[in-house]
This record gives sequence, structure tokens and C-alpha cells, in this order.
Amino acid sequence: MERDWQKVLNFNETLLIRIIHLPHWGQHKIHLNVYNQVKNYPYMAVSFIDIKRFEPGFLDKWESKVKEMSANAQFIGGSEVSTLESRLAEYAKVQYAISCANGTDALQLALRAMGVGRGDKVLLPDSTFWATFECVVNVGADPVTIDPTETDLQMDIEDFKKAIDKYKPKAAILVHLYGWGSADVLEFRKICKEKNVLLLEDGAQCFGVQFQNESIYKGAHISTTSFYPAKVLGAAGDGGAVFTNDEALANQVRQLANHGRTSHYGHGSVGWNSRMDSLQAAFLNLSLDHIDARLDSRRSIAAKYQKELPNLGIQVVSPPKGYLENGYCNANIFDIEFRPKLEAHLKEKGIGFGIIYPGAMSDQPGAEGWEKFGDRNVARKICATILNLPLYAYMTDNEFDEVYSVLKDFLKK
Ligand SMILES: Cc1ncc(COP(=O)(O)O)c(C=O)c1O
Repeated sequence: MERDWQKVLNFNETLLIRIIHLPHWGQHKIHLNVYNQVKNYPYMAVSFIDIKRFEPGFLDKWESKVKEMSANAQFIGGSEVSTLESRLAEYAKVQYAISCANGTDALQLALRAMGVGRGDKVLLPDSTFWATFECVVNVGADPVTIDPTETDLQMDIEDFKKAIDKYKPKAAILVHLYGWGSADVLEFRKICKEKNVLLLEDGAQCFGVQFQNESIYKGAHISTTSFYPAKVLGAAGDGGAVFTNDEALANQVRQLANHGRTSHYGHGSVGWNSRMDSLQAAFLNLSLDHIDARLDSRRSIAAKYQKELPNLGIQVVSPPKGYLENGYCNANIFDIEFRPKLEAHLKEKGIGFGIIYPGAMSDQPGAEGWEKFGDRNVARKICATILNLPLYAYMTDNEFDEVYSVLKDFLKK
């Protein structure tokens, strides 16, 4: 039966129900009549992420920025890029922040600047995004993957130490996954120093993460991040950055990202074009104005999952001691046979979910021919049992409650 409000507004129910749960909707009293008709409707779709939930006025500022920059043809370099770099350095608590085209390039730039190349072995976790593996191969080096632990889901320090002795790698990549980092981050840094292994930290997912009350990027020799739109600090397209306190590395990264330029037509090395567009920098500058509020919102939803889901018997993975996470994602471990049933139920009820890392790196067809350390297959197991529930900045309490009640109804059966 068509309801009155459908005739008037020409909305379908799912869309309307999502609208009435948006923050501030209740302030529009004019819609109260509609709200009263649909508030008890038993179904509300919650997406896995929602990157359109900007602060009031944000998009207006962005539109004026685009107009102004287009009128001045300010597309490459300029004040937006330099402002962004100094704000990033300040936020990450590092001396140098160099912007680039994306997080994958950031990793490659860092490896090249570190002098990693043909024939070098590089250790990295078997559970990460493919870019971490790809960048090693793309600089001509040989990746060796290491299993994660089942507790913090990050690279296993004991296997890492054994792999150093076995492979004598030139470098290693520690990835700070899921919005926190390894319980053994200090040990990774220490052992690499002692054994002369150059350590790169892939921080694509850890913008805003603090370890022992400091930005996680601060203690890294060199680290990277990604501004892919779904990241905690997301651009209006692609973007990335390299962070370091080492001036020589910073200069090298900057040169490589701009055709190895030493002057306009002077090329001191063979690099490529990995400049960040000025428009992306402008969008990131506007976003940085709100980063603390976005982080607070993400963290509070992450904390709710950690507090409430164990009441349903769900194993939620929490960051190790010493970390303040950034709320990048929620991560839960389910029984291997139960997970597909839960996935089907969530789909049926319109609750988004993700399996951010569905497979181990060493199981990818593209990894054939490269080495993997050990045969415990922890990464494979984690990939088969993990499931991520909706989490994004400004997710509402109603949306959280909907996810919770769908889980509760299913688990009660
Ligand atoms: C751990 C990790 N490293 C690297 C990247 C690559 O970043 P980008 O997509 O900006 O190239 C990602 C992106 O998802 C990532 O999650």
C-alpha cells in the first residue's frame, strides 16, 4: 500500500528511513509528520562505509575552493600543496612530509629513496593490502611474507626475527593495519636497527593513531600514508604522503616524485611523476580542519563495538596496550563455518560489512614464485574468519543500534 508521504515525496522507504536517521534530521520539524509515520518501520539499511557524511558547510567551502582555484588555473603545486605538507608534518609530528600521487607510490618512493632495488630481500606481512607486496616487486626487490599474530593481527615478531637470520634482508615493511599497530612496534624498530635492516612503516591505515601518547609516525625512520577517499583522512580522489625525520631521505623522495628533478630541466635521478594535484591538497586541507572531530566519532563507534559485541558472544579485536586507535575499522573473529551464514543474514537485512583482507598475500596468483616464511598459514586463517562491521565518521547511534539488533536477532536463534 502506498503511504501518503510516498506520494508527496516520491521517496522509496529505504531512502527515507536512511534520511531520517541522518544527524540533525530531527531538527527539521516540518518532516515530523512523516517521521511519526515511519519511525517504527522495522528495517534500516546501514552501509559498510559512508564517505558522503561531511560536516555542514563543508561541500560549500569545497565548491568555492574549486571555483577559485579553477579561475586561477592553480592545478599543480602552489600554496595548497605546501600548506598541506606543513600541516601534515605538524599533525604526524615529523620533520618532513612529502605529498605524492597515492599511497602505493608513497611506498615505492620510500623504498627507492632507501636504496632498495634489484636483488634485495624485503620482509613484509602476509596479511596486508596488495600494494605493500607490489611496491617491493616494482622496485626490483624480492618480497618474503611473514605471518601475522592472531592477537593484534600484525606481523609476528618471532617469525620476523627468524626470517632476518634466514634471509638477511636489506629492508622490511611493517604495516600498521586496521587502525592500530603491532604490540611489538618498538621491538621491530629496535631489532631492525641492531641488524641493519632498513625499516619502512606502511601507515596507509593509521592516520591519527597514537602509540604511547605520540603520533605513530613520529617514531618511524620513514613511513607512508594513503589519502584514498575511504581512508581516515581521505581526498576527493587519490593522494599519499611520505613522512620522515631524515633530511637526506626527504630530499630524495621529493626528487624522485618529480622526475628526479634538480632544476626545471635538470634530472639528478630517474624518478617518475607522482605529484599530488593542488585540488586534492585543497580538499585535504579542508578535511584536516575536521580531522579531530572525525577521529572522535570513529573512535566512539569503535569503542561501542568493543564494549557491546562481547555481550553477544562476538570476539572483537581490540588494539594492543599503548595504542589510541583511529577507528579506521571494526574487526571481529567468527567461526570459519559461521561467517558465511552471518554474511548471508547481514546481506538480507541490508547491513553492510567488509572483509577488508579476504586473502593472504602469498595465496595471490600474483605472488607465485616469491617466498613465504614458515608454513603456519596464520594469515590464511585470519582472512577466513575475520569480518568488519559498519564504521565511519558520524555514524549515528541509531545506525549502531540497528547493526547490534540485527546481530542480536540472528545470534539468538
Ligand atoms: C596497507 C595499505 N598500504 C598501501 C595502500 C595503498 O594506498 P593507495 O590506494 O592510496 O595507493 C593501502 C590502500 O588501501 C593500504 O591499505
